[in-house]
Amino acid sequence: MRMSKKPISDNEIVDAALHLDGNPETIRRFYDIWAEKYDQDVVDIAYSGPRIVAGLVDKHAERLRGADRNALRVLDAGCGTGLSGKALHDIGFREIHGCDLSPEMAERAEERGCYKSAVGNVDLMKADAQYERATFDIVISVGVFTLGHVPPEALGVLVDLVRPGGIIALSTRVQYYEESNYRDVAGALIDGGRIRLLEQLSDANYCNDGAGHFWAYQVAR
Ligand SMILES: C[S@@+](CC[C@H](N)C(=O)[O-])C[C@H]1O[C@@H](n2cnc3c(N)ncnc32)[C@H](O)[C@@H]1O
Repeated sequence: MRMSKKPISDNEIVDAALHLDGNPETIRRFYDIWAEKYDQDVVDIAYSGPRIVAGLVDKHAERLRGADRNALRVLDAGCGTGLSGKALHDIGFREIHGCDLSPEMAERAEERGCYKSAVGNVDLMKADAQYERATFDIVISVGVFTLGHVPPEALGVLVDLVRPGGIIALSTRVQYYEESNYRDVAGALIDGGRIRLLEQLSDANYCNDGAGHFWAYQVAR
C-alpha cells in the first residue's frame, strides 16, 4: 500500500494514525496510547463512520432471519473503543462481539456494556484463528480499511467469518480506496461469486478532513 508523506488530516493525532505503517505491533502500541483520548479526538473531527455503518446494517439486516436482532451474531472487527457497538446496540442488536489489536482500545469497548465480548491482541488478518469460520450473521469494520492500517486483503478474512447469506458492512477512506488495491480485492471476491454488493455510499461524509466510501455486501448462500 502506498503511503503518502504529505499531511492528510489537520488533526495531529489523526494524521499520525493515517501515517502508520500497517505493522501490527506499531499499530497496537499507537492505539494503546491513544485509547484514553480517542473518543474526544474523533468527536473533534466529526467522525461519522460508526453511525453510517450502523445505518447500512439497520437497512440490510432485514434480509437475515426475519430481522430478529436480538439473535443476530455480529462481529465488530477493529472495534476500537466500541463506538460502532454502541451505535448497533442503540438500534436493537445484542449479540455483538468486538476484537481489536489494541487491548486498551478493546477494554474501553468492553466497558461500554454493549458487547458480549470485546477482546484485544487480535490481528484482523488472523481473525479466523480467534473465531470459527462462517459463524457471524454480520461483520462490520469501521475506520480500519484506512491508510496505514489493514491491507484490502483483510476483506477476504472477514468474508470467511460470515455465514452464507450474512452481511458485511465497512468503511474505506476515499484516499485509501484510491491508493490501495481495494477495488481489485473486492472485485475478485464479487467476480468469484463469494460476495455481492448490496449498497455503496460514495464520498459520504466520513469526517471533517476526508470523505469515505461505505459498502454493504452479502456473502453467497
Ligand atoms: C480508527 S480506529 C477505528 C475504531 C472503531 N472501529 C471506530 O470506528 O471508532 C482503527 C482501529 O483499528 C484497529 N486495527 C488496526 N489494524 C488492525 C488489525 N490488523 N487487526 C485488528 N485491529 C486493527 C486499531 O487498533 C484501532 O482500534
